[in-house]
Amino acid sequence: MALQDCRIIDLDKIAEQRGNLTVIEGGRTLPFDIRRVYYLYDVPGGAERGGHAHKNLQQFIVAMSGSFDVVLHDGQRERRFHLNRSYFGVYVCPMTWRRLDNFSSGSVCLVLASEHYDESDYIRSFDGFLAATGAPAP
Ligand code: TYD
Repeated sequence: MALQDCRIIDLDKIAEQRGNLTVIEGGRTLPFDIRRVYYLYDVPGGAERGGHAHKNLQQFIVAMSGSFDVVLHDGQRERRFHLNRSYFGVYVCPMTWRRLDNFSSGSVCLVLASEHYDESDYIRSFDGFLAATGAPAP
């Protein structure tokens, strides 16, 4: 998989006068079953999260509140996605380097993941990531 497989997925919004409702279903809305959910919050201004890739993990990232950027790199190209609504998110495919920055105050970043937490699935060195993708080291 490469950067072109990572994409924005729009979520249906069931809008009523009583408020909006959005559903995410593993295997339907998303191309994977959901094994884990976590969220980032109280992120200080200027902080950066991520800074790693995953060998097998698939993820879907939504701004539940506020806004932030998800920057994806496949070893050759980089794409920046600005997330600022709770009715769309970005699908991050395996072997994609990601970092998250530009967090607005009070933002909440929801992450749905295809696998349980497994530190051995992480690639935490960018040079190691480039080597694993076959890209030339910078
Ligand atoms: P990390 O994935 O590096 O955070 P981020 O990519 O959002 O910057 O995880 C930060 C810490 O939290 C690290 O010590 C591992 C731990 N952690 C878990 O224990 N379980 C999890 O599901 C996740 C995502 C992280």
